[in-house]
Order: sequence, then structure tokens, then C-alpha cells
Amino acid sequence: MDANRVSPTFEPKPCPPASRAVPCTPYPVPMTAPRVACQGLTKTLRSGSHDLTVVKDVDLAVQPAESLAILGPSGSGKSTLLGLLAGLDRPTRGTVQVDGQELTTMNEDELARLRRGTLGFVFQSFQLLTNLTALENVRVPLELMGFQGAAARATELLGQVGLAERLTHYPSQLSGGEMQRVALARAFGPRPSLILADEPTGNLDAETGERVLDLLFDLRQDEGTSLVLVTHDAALAQRAERRLHMAAGEAVRLEQ
Ligand SMILES: Nc1ncnc2c1ncn2[C@@H]1O[C@H](COP(=O)(O)OP(=O)(O)OP(=O)(O)O)[C@@H](O)[C@H]1O
Ligand SMILES: [Mg+2]
Repeated sequence: MDANRVSPTFEPKPCPPASRAVPCTPYPVPMTAPRVACQGLTKTLRSGSHDLTVVKDVDLAVQPAESLAILGPSGSGKSTLLGLLAGLDRPTRGTVQVDGQELTTMNEDELARLRRGTLGFVFQSFQLLTNLTALENVRVPLELMGFQGAAARATELLGQVGLAERLTHYPSQLSGGEMQRVALARAFGPRPSLILADEPTGNLDAETGERVLDLLFDLRQDEGTSLVLVTHDAALAQRAERRLHMAAGEAVRLEQ
């Protein structure tokens, strides 16, 4: 081994502006690390008396500021794959890294710490807290992260997704598309470096969907946020740099 060679190279995470919740350099980020990657990712579920493999041997790497759309028929494993990439679900086999950190060996506390501020997740079913208003659904998670100016940021984001007049509405008083936009505002809140969104425009009309996509892609442009978006929306898929097609749990084609 060459003793003069300086390696491996690590880039400390830059100190964020004061308004960010994430601490300075919470972990070293290998310079060459993709924002999110997986190898041989497989999830097998028990269904009645037999096993069902819903995600099978998926290999993937998404670089900082890159956007990837995941497409495929209903039941092809898109949501399951997204949950595995976020560490919300444990794989049967295979590995996942976010910023070079291996998720599959982390305990729940470590996963929560990594997700906090680093990763924004938008669920297909939104998962808003029903006893909190739209504003509280966005503001409270930011406050729990110690985000300075949480109320102002939550208000601003809800305005950007067109919900300035709905701040005090509870989820039961919102339409499906409005709940979806609250979920998006919540995911954007801490300015995460990675957003994983499941059908982010699935309940939106063309114009509102376009506005939400502009917000997502602006984040990518301005903050280097990587986007992994599950979608049936052709317009969204076309805006992504790459498209991963899934069928029966397998990644069958990657389009550049
Ligand atoms: N807990 C579970 N037990 C058994 N099967 C499950 C479970 N969760 C999901 N599945 C099955 O896994 C497969 C993949 O589900 P997944 O939700 O990932 O699909 P999807 O591609 O997101 O579909 P959609 O486009 O309809 O949202 C489906 O066939 C589903 O029935
Ligand atoms: Mg799904």
C-alpha cells in the first residue's frame, strides 16, 4: 500500500444555516457516496400459507441532486421499495445506504436520528395526525427537531402549496389533494437532503400538481435535494432524470 496516498476522503457535512434543525457534521459523508443506494434489496412477505417476494434483488444508486421516478403497475412493489430505502421497513435480504450510512444494521434510534432532518418521506396515504390542524401537522415535527422559526416556516410552506386559507383545518376538513399538499409541506419542512415521495401528485389536478412539482424540483436545484418519486404521472416521470420501471417486484428497466 502506498503510504503517501491520502484515502479514504471524507467530506464533513457543511454546517447548516441557523434555521436548520440538523446538527453540524452529524456523521462523515464519504465524498463518493450516493445519497441513497441499495444492493440486492429483497422483501419477502408471508401471505397465507406461502411466501410472496414483493421486492426482488433491486440495485440502485441515486446521487446528490439527482431525481429518479419509479414507475410500474399497481402491486409491483414501488411503495415497499420506497419504505425499504427510508428504513421504515426492514429488508429480508440486501443492503441500503443513505449518505454512505448502512441502514440495515441500525437500531430504531439510529434510524430515527438519521431520518430526522436528512430524509423527507411522503406516504401514499399521507399519514397526517388527525387531531392536529394543517399548520400543526407541519409545525410540530419541526419544533420537535428544534427547528428555529418552525411556525413561520410551516406557514410559508403551506402558502407555497396553496393552503394559506386552510391552516386551521383538521385533516377531516381537507380534501384528498389538500391532505397530500400538507404531507408534502411536512416533508419539505426541515430542508432534507433526500425526499422519498409516494405518488406525490396522485390526488392533484394538473395545475396544482405542476405547482407541487415545481416546488420539488426547485428544492433539488437550490438545495441539492435528491428526489425519489413513485408515480403514475407521465408529466412527473418525464421531469425526472431517470426512470426505474418495476414489474412484479423487480427493477426491469432503468431509463436515462
Ligand atoms: N403486509 C403485507 N402482506 C402481504 N402482502 C403485502 C403486504 N404489503 C404489501 N403486500 C403486497 O405487496 C405487493 C406490493 O405492494 P406495494 O404497495 O409495494 O405495491 P405498489 O407498486 O406500491 O402498488 P400501488 O401502485 O397500487 O400503490 C402487493 O401485491 C401487495 O398486495
Ligand atoms: Mg404504492
